[in-house]
Order: sequence, then structure tokens, then C-alpha cells
Amino acid sequence: MIASAPGKIILFGEHSVVYGRHAVVSAINLRCRVKVRKSSSFKIKSVLGESNLDFDRHPYVVQAVRRFLEVKNIPGAEIEIESEIPIGSGLGSSGAVIVATLAALNAEFKGGMDKEDIFQMAKQVEIDVQGRASGIDPFISTFGGSWLFPERKKVSMPFKFFVINFGSRSTAEMVKKVAELRERHPEVMEKIFDSIDAVSLEAAEIKSEDRLEELIAINQSLLRAIGVSNPEIDETIAELERKGLKAKITGAGGGGCIFGLYKGEKPEGSFVVEPEKEGVRVEE
Ligand code: MEV
Repeated sequence: MIASAPGKIILFGEHSVVYGRHAVVSAINLRCRVKVRKSSSFKIKSVLGESNLDFDRHPYVVQAVRRFLEVKNIPGAEIEIESEIPIGSGLGSSGAVIVATLAALNAEFKGGMDKEDIFQMAKQVEIDVQGRASGIDPFISTFGGSWLFPERKKVSMPFKFFVINFGSRSTAEMVKKVAELRERHPEVMEKIFDSIDAVSLEAAEIKSEDRLEELIAINQSLLRAIGVSNPEIDETIAELERKGLKAKITGAGGGGCIFGLYKGEKPEGSFVVEPEKEGVRVEE
């Protein structure tokens, strides 16, 4: 069986969402496809290489298999992963591969899980691997569309986005970095999370490009304040601003991707993504 799941773009609220604040997130038109076949042992194949249940090489897939084994005891599976989503760059490659793996295992081995079960298990897998996670990535990869999270309120998202990728980094490390800064400065950090919360709540209601771009700039400044930007990103964003464009980090930061509203002009080195309605689906 093959299952596919979309990546995501967090428009507002990354990191503060881990501490119970709101985020606005959209599935995007880049998908991860996972093919699962019955076998007597486990084999995983992806651009990261070929392995058995080797956690170091394929942490999210291996942990997804381990959690699936808790609901259905299977002797093995051949698992092949192909993804259009750049790996470890903030566009939800990990969430999508967990969700697509669970959906493909579920379809191949008749695990009896519905979408909500897949989301809940995928969220657990993310927490297992990252230590701390909001569940926003597996949520959007499972259900598709554009949402105000965590209360699952649909939002209208009639925009496309330009994206610039600064390369992969570890979400777990960035989440840990923010947690450590919060331990040292709890009062300050909680107030910044509250401000990001206000940005997300306002953004969920906005239809105008100009107002949304103002919020993009505000959210980026707050992300910088919690230590998840870097000089290269800051310089690129400043350069875009000189050209009249606003941009912010999407996802964990420290590298990864930045995005802005696509208004017909693609900045150098960028690609364009658009919101995607469909979440996880079994393809075969
Ligand atoms: C990662 O895509 C988003 C973070 O907010 C982590 C999470 O929500 O689990 C950085």
C-alpha cells in the first residue's frame, strides 16, 4: 500500500504553540509518499539510505513502526519513502513521514485506525523523538487545510507563499534551546509567547495582504527575541525588506525555511508553495 501526506507551513505561532499558545498553519502542495509491503523482516529505504529498524538513520519512521507494533504485531515490512518536502527545513517533512508511514502500515496490515487515531499516534511519535512537541505538524499532515491550532478552527488562506531554504537543522535542538532560555527567563519568555499568541489570533481573522505582512514582520521579531533566528536569516530578511517584502521563519528556525506572501514576484533563490486541502490519503 502507498499512503501520502502533505508538508506544512506554520504561518504564525511556532515555538509558542509548544507552550499552549495559538498558531496558524496550512498544509502545502508538497507531499511525502510511503510504500509499505508485507515482509518477514523490517527494511527502510529513503534518501537517507537503507536500514533495518535503525533509529539513528530513520528516527521518525522507526519510532512510527514501534508505536504501530503496539496495536498490531507484524513480523516485518518493506518501507520505501519518497518525499517532495525538503528534509529538516521547517516544512513538516518529519510530521508528513510519520503520518504517511502510519497510514500505509495501517492500510497494508489492516490496523483499524481512523484519521484521529493516526494523528494521535503520530503526535506521540513526535514527542518520543523530540522530547517536546505541540502536535501541530502531524495534525496538519493528517487533516490538510488551513487551521487555527489547537482548537481546530478552519481559517481561510487565499494566499501563495515564497519560501527560501537555509538548509536542514534539528527541530529537537531548537525546541530544547527555547526551553532552556525559558528556564532562565520565565517571565520574559511567557510574555513573548503571549504576544505571539495575539499575532496568531489576529492573523486568523485577516484577509488583507498588507495587514498580514505587518504580522509576519512582528512575528519574525519575536522569533528573533526567543533565539531561533540567525545572522544569515536576519540579513536575508533585511534585504527582502529593502525590496518591500516581509518574511519570517517557518517552523523551528535556526536555519530551515523563511517565507513571505507571494505577490507575483519570486525573490532570488525562492520557490512557491500553496495551501493544500487534502491531508493524508491512501493511494493504492
Ligand atoms: C516545528 O514545526 C514547530 C515547533 O513549534 C515545534 C512544535 O510545535 O512541536 C517549533
